[in-house]
Amino acid sequence: MENLHFFSLSKITSQLENYLSKIEAATKNCDIQPDQPNLQPVSKGNTKMAKTPESLELSINDATDKSLDRDCTTLSRHVLQQLQSFSPDAQDLSALMNRIGLAGKLIARRLSRAGLMEGVLGFTGEVNVQGESVKKMDVYANDVFISVFKQSGLVCRLASEEMEQPYYIPENCPIGRYTLLYDPIDGSSNTDTNLSLGSIFSIRQQQGTDSDGQATDLLTNGHKQIAAGYILYGPSTMLVYTIGNGVHSFTLDPSLGEFILTEENIKIPNHGPVYSVNEGNFWQWEESIREYIRYVHRTEGYTARYSGAMVSDIHRILVQGGVFLYPGTIQKPEGKLRLLYETAPLAFLIEQAGGRATTGLVNILDVVPKKLHQRTPLIIGSKEDVAKVESFIQNGH
Ligand code: AHG
Ligand code: MN
Ligand code: MN
Repeated sequence: MENLHFFSLSKITSQLENYLSKIEAATKNCDIQPDQPNLQPVSKGNTKMAKTPESLELSINDATDKSLDRDCTTLSRHVLQQLQSFSPDAQDLSALMNRIGLAGKLIARRLSRAGLMEGVLGFTGEVNVQGESVKKMDVYANDVFISVFKQSGLVCRLASEEMEQPYYIPENCPIGRYTLLYDPIDGSSNTDTNLSLGSIFSIRQQQGTDSDGQATDLLTNGHKQIAAGYILYGPSTMLVYTIGNGVHSFTLDPSLGEFILTEENIKIPNHGPVYSVNEGNFWQWEESIREYIRYVHRTEGYTARYSGAMVSDIHRILVQGGVFLYPGTIQKPEGKLRLLYETAPLAFLIEQAGGRATTGLVNILDVVPKKLHQRTPLIIGSKEDVAKVESFIQNGH
């Protein structure tokens, strides 16, 4: 009996070794580490039984195929799958997203060691075009995006929160006609306290030659965006994007140095419990917004969450439902957030997930800016929750 037991165990062990070496060989195709095969015991009635080698073979092959497929679904491959094309345009967009991913990896790497390095945290002493004190990480992240697109042949202009005028890369222009608009670090006030941060991006096709260097063709509505998304620097680094065909999330696997597909076609719930707003501004808001906040205070089922980084607050809302608000104040009716590289890209993404984004009066994607750094109020999130805020703004209840 003991011998029999020994025999079957050693047989299983040798079979397992065999399967593991097959997995290793297969995974070399995409340079990844094999995952542990699923060795959970199967239960039969009330008794747990070890799997037979045959059933192990099935489940190991199955697990391998699934994990291989998952681990090989990188960002650039996903873009090509989405476009169902290998045309030069599709290749360009795929390469472009890959470069944005590279920027995200560089920023995430610096953030992960920020407390250990000299000259990473704190302010530069400069004030940007928005009148805000600039952090060293804002400058670093701004330069990272420029750097990854120099000599890329993909993007000929970059416009960011940190630069008064767009940055031109003329040598890219004969090939690439894209413009990248971005907020290099969203939630800068979280930088020095090791809290979540983000980057926001939007891609537009350049219209015309922009011969006067004023980039006036960017002053169009948000429907003109080709792609948009954000990178979230949290406990893990995630990249969430849309190219107008749903919303998809990727998680950076540090052991691979790759963004790997986490979830496809994310749908935002129609309603959620979270309202996310800086209530410190309560007495500066219009009465309609105050009334809405009084309404959530007296209504069961709401909970407040506000991190100081819109990307992370909106990511929570994308997953769990709810509404994020940055309304205008009586003194600054246009609010704080900028249209072209903050509110419009997030509006595009949340609409693609089945949600809504409005100023309270107009859909964000319909707003045509008059200038590059134009601000808009923002109410964004689940359809029903956005409609509720809208109704307070438009009807007073
Ligand atoms: P940024 O760091 O790019 O200037 O953006 C910060 C934004 C947004 O991320 C956040 O929700 C909000 O501003 C925080 O502002 P308050 O401190 O006024 O709440
Ligand atoms: Mn921002
Ligand atoms: Mn910023």
